[in-house]
Amino acid sequence: MSRQDPKVLSYGEIGHKQLNPPLDQLRAMRLIYVAGKGGVGKSVCSAATGIWTSAQGKETLAFSMDPAHSLSDIFDIDIGSQPKSISDHLYAYEPDLAEEARGFFRRYKNILTALFGLFEVEVKPEDFGNMPGVSELIFMDKLNDIFVEKQYDFVVIDSAPTAMVLPLLQLPSITTGFVTRVLGMRSKWIGVLNLLESGFGDAILKEIRTMRIKAETMRNALIDPKTASITVVTIPEKAAVEESRRLIETVESHGVHVASLIINHVMRECDCQFCQNKMASQTSYIQDLQSRYSDKRVAILPDYGAEVKGEGLQQVAQDLYGKGQMELWTLGP
Ligand SMILES: Nc1ncnc2c1ncn2[C@@H]1O[C@H](COP(=O)(O)OP(=O)(O)OP(=O)(O)O)[C@@H](O)[C@H]1O
Ligand SMILES: [Mg+2]
Repeated sequence: MSRQDPKVLSYGEIGHKQLNPPLDQLRAMRLIYVAGKGGVGKSVCSAATGIWTSAQGKETLAFSMDPAHSLSDIFDIDIGSQPKSISDHLYAYEPDLAEEARGFFRRYKNILTALFGLFEVEVKPEDFGNMPGVSELIFMDKLNDIFVEKQYDFVVIDSAPTAMVLPLLQLPSITTGFVTRVLGMRSKWIGVLNLLESGFGDAILKEIRTMRIKAETMRNALIDPKTASITVVTIPEKAAVEESRRLIETVESHGVHVASLIINHVMRECDCQFCQNKMASQTSYIQDLQSRYSDKRVAILPDYGAEVKGEGLQQVAQDLYGKGQMELWTLGP
């Protein structure tokens, strides 16, 4: 097979066999990816899911993929930039994006300097973390480390607000396009770099391949229903309902099944006219979502009347999972 064909890369080829073994050789680890529009309750639902899985004795990591981390606030614990123990079997992790970006830059310095050099752009480590797509790349890289280390039974991913598609799905095509372009230039460009310093061009190629294989590992994990489950959180209002419809449509067009939908901030009974009107409007959106997504688990979460954090998460876990509205498909043996 030709080294220049980006589709034929194998795990062994890049010398990262232990780092990225094929999925079927990995111990079962489940990813629960929580997605949705800004402010609908993704972090609360992620944290409550972690509370539930850990209460079942499953080693769980709540992993924040949102640069504006909020798990510390929600768990009411200062998590810091390393996985932190929250309670029995439960850990939370909010990677420090700036610190990771510097480390990432150092690790991929060759490739980044060479790539940006092509466009005569000088990129500094401190600017790197703010470039578009970089936070996703860094979080993906961290998640890949966690995924291959297999220390947890469940990793609940608290994602950043999603407009249309999950970043984990897009990264392989971005890196693939990148590899194709670099490999296409290989004969003239890599050769020149090798002349400058023996093996430099090949080292760059190897780094790009590593990055791409990590991105593919995570994308493949996400599209495999035995490994990952996607939960979309929404609220019963027009804009949110529309946005979640588009999100689900786009994600499913990538071959990823959205298993469950949580409708959050649902009003409780109240006799006043204002609440009656609002409840009527919410009811119509809820019915619409329930009939449109009869293939999914649709859970309803009340508005608790105050922000949810700390101990309050127990109630959310109970309402979602304890009452059987949501089910973790893997809580069996
Ligand atoms: N059911 C609820 N009842 C009352 N307050 C809630 C409920 N769900 C979430 N909240 C509150 O709403 C706010 C936003 O929730 P959360 O941070 O989970 O949303 P998010 O979707 O993660 O937001 P972002 O897109 O900014 O990450 C928080 O203050 C949270 O405590
Ligand atoms: Mg959040």
